[in-house]
Amino acid sequence: RTQGGVDYYDIVQKPAQVEILPGIKTEIWGYNGQFPGPTLTTRSGRPIVVRHTNELEVPVAVHLHGGKTPPEHDGFPTDLILPGSGWDGHDAHGGDISRGSREYHYPLEQPAATLWYHDHRMDFTGPQVYHGLAGFHLVHDEAEDNLPLPKGERDIPLLICDRSFTADGAFDYPAVDPSPKGEHGVTEDFMEGVLGDVILVNGAPWPVLEVDAARYRFRLLNASNARRYRLALDPGPQSGNAFVQVGSDVGLLGRPIGHDEIQMAPAERFDVVVDFSKFPVGTRIAMVNKLDDGDTGKVMQFHVVRKASDNSRVPTKLVDFEPLSRSSATVTRKFDFNQRSDDGWDINGKTYDPERDDAAPELGATEIWRFDGDAHHPVHLHLAHFQVLSRNQNDPGPYDSGWKDTIDLESGKEMEIIARFTGYRGRYVFHCHNLEHEDMGMMANFRVM
Ligand code: C2O
Ligand code: CU
Ligand code: CU
Repeated sequence: RTQGGVDYYDIVQKPAQVEILPGIKTEIWGYNGQFPGPTLTTRSGRPIVVRHTNELEVPVAVHLHGGKTPPEHDGFPTDLILPGSGWDGHDAHGGDISRGSREYHYPLEQPAATLWYHDHRMDFTGPQVYHGLAGFHLVHDEAEDNLPLPKGERDIPLLICDRSFTADGAFDYPAVDPSPKGEHGVTEDFMEGVLGDVILVNGAPWPVLEVDAARYRFRLLNASNARRYRLALDPGPQSGNAFVQVGSDVGLLGRPIGHDEIQMAPAERFDVVVDFSKFPVGTRIAMVNKLDDGDTGKVMQFHVVRKASDNSRVPTKLVDFEPLSRSSATVTRKFDFNQRSDDGWDINGKTYDPERDDAAPELGATEIWRFDGDAHHPVHLHLAHFQVLSRNQNDPGPYDSGWKDTIDLESGKEMEIIARFTGYRGRYVFHCHNLEHEDMGMMANFRVM
């Protein structure tokens, strides 16, 4: 539905029985009963409204990850849609509560990018995403339209995540505290986060994609709660790199970058082109995860089935890219991501409190944020897009290029990012995107002033 230049979408969050493992039904919590949720395809600068109706039995909050969204529509962790109908208001802690349904307004004043939407309920994001509440939102723009990259059927988003199943086919999320103390929804036995033993791509285990001997654009998303991947092709191409990266989390790169492997922390996106004309017709190519052996080392397969015409290419210049210089930053802040004694995870020694703000950047400011930590922590900022300035006192790493919203912080290796706080004033979160770490307190607010 379109009204006054605004496109309206309706999404109902509800349980559904779907076949993920052959011959077995799994109950998912899905956007429109689907896992992954429906892919939203929108245009930069054209506002949309998504009305979410909650037919699940739990409160939900919807966050557009990578979106530049006004704070009241950003899925703040206490701004909940409760099940049922008929009452809107505020809770004792200032959470903005709706019952039954809620409209999220997205101005989408941002360049073409691979965004995703997912649940963000405080203390329960891990279990709720694990049950299926995640989907793609692709923003397109003219600069992207004008590039000769693969399009249409050859532009495919791939949502990669790991899950475990019980013997009767249910998702086996092991970490929900059966008697929540009102503190957080995960128990302390899963300090590293919840790992599954089956890798799913777009909701299917070890799927096969039949491809033409031509270029394809894949928008890779690591939607896992806690697992990292190092993706590679086996066999690799006879010449050149397996992957040509054209985009990062929140936009296209200035220039393409060749990789033989792509390492991805939770929530990161890598927009890549794979050229299957470099493989003989008939080749079966495995996409593997080199961080693991056995079942979690297998991601998906490509089968090159036919010769085909292809007028796509990857130009040496993609879009205008403005590197942010260190000297443009007016403020430097420091955040440490560390374990709290033995029962959770903190930022600067503090556990998440939705009523406490830990930083107050000015609207429009450019700031350097320095991160340090005691384990792998995929650090994510809402609203602000950023670039990586340094990793471990050195240049950024091979997977740090472009505009980012999430970076893979490594244990004991300080990182510096430079972020632009443009868009909207108000309260937003930043957090570890290991969802169990987030649920165990590794999150904080910043307030754009
Ligand atoms: Cu992908 Cu705060 O989220
Ligand atoms: Cu986000
Ligand atoms: Cu973490």
